[in-house]
Amino acid sequence: MTADRNALDPAFPQPRPEVESLHAYSAPLEGRRQMLRLDFNENTIGPSPRVVEALRAIPADHIAIYPEYDGLREAVVSNLGLPLQPDQIGLFNGVDAAIHAIFHAYGDRGETLLTTSPTFGYYTPCAQMQGMSIQAIPYEGEGFAFPLEAIRSGLQSTPRLLLICNPNNPTGTRLAPQRILELAAAAPQTLVVVDELYEAFTGDSVLPIADFEAQPNVLVLRSLAKTAGLAGLRIGFAIGHAAVVDRISRVTGPYDINSFAVTAAFAALKDQAYVDGYVAEVIQARAWMAEQLQAAGVRHHVEGGNYLLLWPQRDPGVVDQALREAGVLVRAMTGKPLIHGSLRVSIGTLAQMQRFWAAYRRIEALPG
Ligand SMILES: Cc1ncc(COP(=O)(O)O)c(C=O)c1O
Repeated sequence: MTADRNALDPAFPQPRPEVESLHAYSAPLEGRRQMLRLDFNENTIGPSPRVVEALRAIPADHIAIYPEYDGLREAVVSNLGLPLQPDQIGLFNGVDAAIHAIFHAYGDRGETLLTTSPTFGYYTPCAQMQGMSIQAIPYEGEGFAFPLEAIRSGLQSTPRLLLICNPNNPTGTRLAPQRILELAAAAPQTLVVVDELYEAFTGDSVLPIADFEAQPNVLVLRSLAKTAGLAGLRIGFAIGHAAVVDRISRVTGPYDINSFAVTAAFAALKDQAYVDGYVAEVIQARAWMAEQLQAAGVRHHVEGGNYLLLWPQRDPGVVDQALREAGVLVRAMTGKPLIHGSLRVSIGTLAQMQRFWAAYRRIEALPG
């Protein structure tokens, strides 16, 4: 007999109805360590050696005391090189935690989240757990263009939140930062959250042109997970008007970011050259991949971000599995609106992409 161990007996204490009907965002699978991991858009070579050095130098007593955050906001400001104040930087246990906190602070039952589709998978459960309704506007056409007019008209009914992932994960769609500020200007009662996790791969950011005093309804998310390679330590930032950052920070715990993440963040923020070098390598590998796919006649979509979409001829589940057997992990976009049947492949170094491409060509029996 296989009983459902998660079935909730009516005699047990009952959670909120929103939680009972929630489908949580599924976390990465186990057993990824020995593989070429092109499935979660992570940094594929690890953080700066200075980060590793700083972590190794942590004294034992550091582990026994609660984390201290002094100077970290200042370090983020100085890394960005923009005229921001430290109280405009919110510190979170990864951008996932920032997103969760934004919904917790701003997303009321019956209010609306306006966003695009397909986009990053964590926005939906966060909206659902607050009892919000979701208006997800599809990207447009073969090239997955940003649905600017539809978003503009969606803003007329004053949704509580607009989430724009720029460039979008997984389509890579880019939207000019100026357009985002125009949308925000047209909807001052909507908090416009710009998820810039992959901004380093396009250079499109609202930060250099945003005036948070004039537009306090704009909030920008940045993380050290992807480019700086700290995904396992969990640290991310929400950047905006001090009052907005304060409200979002109110719904987090006092020590949600651990000391290891703080130490690593200081070291990573000081070594921007390492991140810039990695990003340049990925952008070069992305161009190489696009050339190969083009020459081989494989349907694909490459735009922003350290990832691309491609459509295998064979069943994508079978190709996904065959790649896994060859030691390469990618992410099947099964069930995702508009891109069902595609695989999302993260971009690493040129050597890593050559390895991926050799395996893919063999599995799909492509000539050359
Ligand atoms: C668009 C987007 N936003 C946020 C996150 C989460 O970032 P973090 O690792 O900082 O929590 C991811 C991670 O995949 C992402 O793709």
